Amino acid sequence: MTDDISLKSFTALDRVGDVEAYVRALEAFDDIPQLQELKRIARDMIRPGSSLLDVGCGFGLETVRLARIVGQAGRVAGIDKSVDFILQAKQRAAAAGLAIDYRAGEAQALPYADASFEIVRAERLLIYLKDWQKAVAEMKRVARPGASLAFIEPEFGTTTINLPDRALVRRVMAHEADTAVVVSWLPGQLYYALSDLGLRDVAVSTRVVLFPQDLAAVYFADVGRNAKKDGAISEAELSAWLSAIGDLHKRGRLFGSVGYFLFTAQN
Ligand SMILES: C[S@@+](CC[C@H](N)C(=O)[O-])C[C@H]1O[C@@H](n2cnc3c(N)ncnc32)[C@H](O)[C@@H]1O
Repeated sequence: MTDDISLKSFTALDRVGDVEAYVRALEAFDDIPQLQELKRIARDMIRPGSSLLDVGCGFGLETVRLARIVGQAGRVAGIDKSVDFILQAKQRAAAAGLAIDYRAGEAQALPYADASFEIVRAERLLIYLKDWQKAVAEMKRVARPGASLAFIEPEFGTTTINLPDRALVRRVMAHEADTAVVVSWLPGQLYYALSDLGLRDVAVSTRVVLFPQDLAAVYFADVGRNAKKDGAISEAELSAWLSAIGDLHKRGRLFGSVGYFLFTAQN
């Protein structure tokens, strides 16, 4: 990932000029082994012939993999607010010869009948929603009795990097947690919200996701620039931040990480 992107834009992608930059960013992140492990655990609950809905599916990076497991005997749908991403998802599915029912729409008001799907899942969606509780309730509504639900989401309070000025790291990362997404501390709320909704067998798996060197260099540099833009750090502090990242990157010694959580539950 070498593009300048802001995570904030995932709340309204149709307003960004270069959607391709966001596609590349999601693809780069998707390659990270620890994230792939969580996705694999989530995929284990999918059987050939299932009916599945991917909420906030983006351009269908994971949806296509799930459609391959479900096969022709099953049914896969994907919904995302971004018209550009849905267009791209349709093109990718057509190129892969997969019949996926993609549509542009709102996670907080799903356009499906009650009890329509056996698997309902979302990945890195709820952190971008003002009313994430409504989206979860909607996902439960469209899930059949006995259906499985799955959510993969990060906890922004855990994002960190190995720069020696720890006070500066704490300030910059606190600014990132407070501004990059709508809900920075989702996992600790979601865990209990699922049982409160009446879902059963709520389970959690976790991985600490390690940023590859190039991705860490670009992402954490952007995080510093955003902090400076909002007045959270000074010009001199930004300069020190960028030079510390540049120095470690040059030597292949960056270590950036973020905690990811997979929640599964039964309807
Ligand atoms: C970080 S991306 C994740 C995409 C996909 N789940 C993945 O893992 O590749 C977040 C996605 O949520 C979508 N999104 C944000 N707000 C939404 C909403 N209110 N309803 C539906 N989708 C939304 C964005 O358009 C974007 O595609």
